Amino acid sequence: MKPHHETVLNYHQRTKHSLDRYAKGPEAIDWDDQPDPFRRFSGCDSITLPKPGRDLDVLFIDLDNPQNIPVQPLTIDSVGLLLELAFGLSAWKQYGPNRWSLRCNPSSGNLHPTEAYLISTGSDFITSGVYHYVSHDHRLEQRCQFSDKITETDLLIGLSSIHWREAWKYGERAYRYCQHDIGHALGALRYAAATLGWSIALLADIADADIAALLGLDRHHDFIKHEQESPDVLCRILTTAHPLHLTDQKLSTRSSAANWFGKADSLRAYHLYSWPVIDDVSEATRKPNTLEPHKSVTRLMPLTSTCQHRASALIRQRRSAQQFDGKMSPLPIADFYRLLSAVLADTAAFDLWHWPAKVHLFIFVHRVADLTPGLYALVRDNAALKPLQAATSDLFAWQQQSETLPFYHLYSGDMKQLAKTLSCHQPIASDSAFSLAMVAEFRTTVESAPWRYRHLFWECGLIGQVLYLEAEAAGIRGTGIGCYFDDSVHEILGIKDDTFQSLYHFTIGKAQGDNRLQTFPAYTHLP
Ligand SMILES: Cc1cc2nc3c(=O)[nH]c(=O)nc-3n(C[C@H](O)[C@H](O)[C@H](O)COP(=O)(O)O)c2cc1C
Repeated sequence: MKPHHETVLNYHQRTKHSLDRYAKGPEAIDWDDQPDPFRRFSGCDSITLPKPGRDLDVLFIDLDNPQNIPVQPLTIDSVGLLLELAFGLSAWKQYGPNRWSLRCNPSSGNLHPTEAYLISTGSDFITSGVYHYVSHDHRLEQRCQFSDKITETDLLIGLSSIHWREAWKYGERAYRYCQHDIGHALGALRYAAATLGWSIALLADIADADIAALLGLDRHHDFIKHEQESPDVLCRILTTAHPLHLTDQKLSTRSSAANWFGKADSLRAYHLYSWPVIDDVSEATRKPNTLEPHKSVTRLMPLTSTCQHRASALIRQRRSAQQFDGKMSPLPIADFYRLLSAVLADTAAFDLWHWPAKVHLFIFVHRVADLTPGLYALVRDNAALKPLQAATSDLFAWQQQSETLPFYHLYSGDMKQLAKTLSCHQPIASDSAFSLAMVAEFRTTVESAPWRYRHLFWECGLIGQVLYLEAEAAGIRGTGIGCYFDDSVHEILGIKDDTFQSLYHFTIGKAQGDNRLQTFPAYTHLP
């Protein structure tokens, strides 16, 4: 049998898009056959959450100083708001007879492979057990009730992925997108919690098998073949001031007995294609129990924003721009620097992330005031500066541009056409103020532990979610870009091997609306 890291490296290599060949996917797509984006379980009790749409008097900029945000009490109202702001619907769109929903968390192709679970013990607002969140209905389905009496109050959120929901459209590359989406969902959860004055502790030590057991994902007969969920993340919600020790609290639910209810409904579609490499890479990246480092230092955002929007409103208005105004006036440099500051590894948005930053940004600057168009880099961990300089083109200047940011000018020139071509010819990468490639410390990470392959994408997704929300706060808009020509990006950067690899792209600018689309509120379908 191949060592796991080789399976991962092979998967990564074979799922690269290139100028002359896209990664393997379905030859044709029947949109009538799209997998249901909403999972539901039949045969279990359900709890309707309080009416969605509530706003709190917390401004988005207040999130820069988490210690000043009022801590909401742990009630069904506040937990409902947490779930809504993290994973709930944000709007419906309609074009002709087609109608589709959008959510607070973005997703590649709007396919939403991520499922969310709430695990509660010892709270008086809900029976101790595991609940699946149905974002469409803003409702919890009770998957299990713990039969042991657990008195300790604990509130956890579990995330999993239905790989097939994404592979239906994107084939073999879909596993990468599922991991990006988990990173975005983690970011969405962190902003939702921060709005409530809460924080998130990622339970980084736990094995995937234990997450699966806790969420009932290993109860294979409760799921249809090919529609199973793969365990990804378990987080603890911290609702008190700053009990960092609580992040170490042992999981009182782990060994407790439970009564399980319900079976997952079919997602309705035929399974025309199967993508065994996704099962293989999923197996090879399964996480065992480990002892991960803890990080507790966070820096306040050095650059304030003038945004006066409430955090909840901003979270609900987040959208991906589908086209940009290529004639926009240049983005003020202060807004640009705030966006860069927000993704540095020691800001509040990354307080849940345990590890040193492994993802760095190579930025194609098109329209930013006081910056010469060209290629720039934001090095998110100073230890990576020399290795990045060694691994990239000798032509790069590496001139530091700002006294406070690890931001470097590499090369001057008009990058618009290049950025567009590299991102699968998408004009969103060239009509924006800037677009970027997220470049990760790759081979050593995967060789050290194959499951960290997923972490690299999660880190990219987390950065993407910060950029999405910060862009909204600056009055502009972002879009994640999963489609790009991997090795052409490496060639332009001068990267010759897989020491570093580009794992995600992103673009930010002035969005242009599409008049043909109608927009409707998120939850008018609820009674
Ligand atoms: C991982 C990821 C990759 C994406 N890739 C692309 C892309 O290549 N091109 C594009 O136009 N949009 C892309 N998007 C944007 C999604 O299409 C968008 O999030 C989805 O349609 C939902 O819309 P919303 O973000 O407005 O809620 C991507 C989003 C994510 C999270």
